[in-house]
Amino acid sequence: TDLDAFIDGLPKAELHLHIEGSLEPELMFALAQRNGVSIPFDSVEAVRAAYDFSNLQDFLDIYYAGANVLLTRQDFEDLAFAYFQRAAADNVRHAEIFFDPQTHTDRGVPFGVVVEGLIAGMDRAKAELGVTSGLILSFLRHLSEDEAFATLERAKPYLHHFIGVGLDSSEVGHPPSKFVRVFAAAREVGLKLCAHAGEEGPPAYVHEALDLLRIDRMDHGNRSMEDESLIARLAAEQMTLTVCPLSNLKLCVVKDLRDHPVPEMLRRGFHVTLNSDDPAYFGGYVNENYRQLAKAVGLTREQVVQIARNSFEGSFLSEVDKAARI
Ligand code: HPA
Ligand code: ZN
Repeated sequence: TDLDAFIDGLPKAELHLHIEGSLEPELMFALAQRNGVSIPFDSVEAVRAAYDFSNLQDFLDIYYAGANVLLTRQDFEDLAFAYFQRAAADNVRHAEIFFDPQTHTDRGVPFGVVVEGLIAGMDRAKAELGVTSGLILSFLRHLSEDEAFATLERAKPYLHHFIGVGLDSSEVGHPPSKFVRVFAAAREVGLKLCAHAGEEGPPAYVHEALDLLRIDRMDHGNRSMEDESLIARLAAEQMTLTVCPLSNLKLCVVKDLRDHPVPEMLRRGFHVTLNSDDPAYFGGYVNENYRQLAKAVGLTREQVVQIARNSFEGSFLSEVDKAARI
């Protein structure tokens, strides 16, 4: 449609992307072969068929298993560059990408191998595709705060490579309050703060992310819509929400895209962005998220433009860089 073509042509930033979630089955097979790692699937089709999730944990189990093929610096560079090629094709000009260091260090892959590989892919993306990017170290919330602190310690020699920290993995049972000290320590060393909140977790977790972690940006935030005081607060503070429609559909956070909260979020004056989260697992990169949501809920061109502007405004680029790119 006309709107689809308009969406495709809009310059945008992507602010919620887990690089491990961009591992396409074809690359998973290629890396399994290159590294002599066995995977529990005998074809790319079998992998795709396994991507049928009823909740976040269903997905996480298979997402962590998929990451087992990632071993060398070259693997991480290839993973990152493959994402940036897809992003560039969608007119993404800037991406702030999460990675989960603990998923790799807990398998014996050194922290530096992961970071140096990802940075090599990001440098190549800037040189060859003109896409700029930043790297966000995400703590796994199903692990302890002590383990998050150990991860922050490992990151210290590489701190100049990071723009921020995040908090992801199994939300329910692992509230933001568990990570207050490590988030304060990350702020202390100059990192921006993000957290997944209100994806499956209750509005109380969103309050904690704001009050206790003092986040700069909120990932998902869907369940904020259950709490009028949160709605008022997020709108007043113009907190950027990194919303992920196809992720929400695949993980059954929404039953149908037509029920997606974005229209209500926009009516309430939220600073909404649209993102792909784990595109290899959820069936679409950023433009597909814009297109399918726009079609399902009837977004206007003006709303689409606003969301794309928000993606640059809500980024961690400097104010000067934002102004140059909006
Ligand atoms: N939620 C929590 N953890 C994650 C996600 C998500 O959407 N994607 C990758 N890790
Ligand atoms: Zn996410």
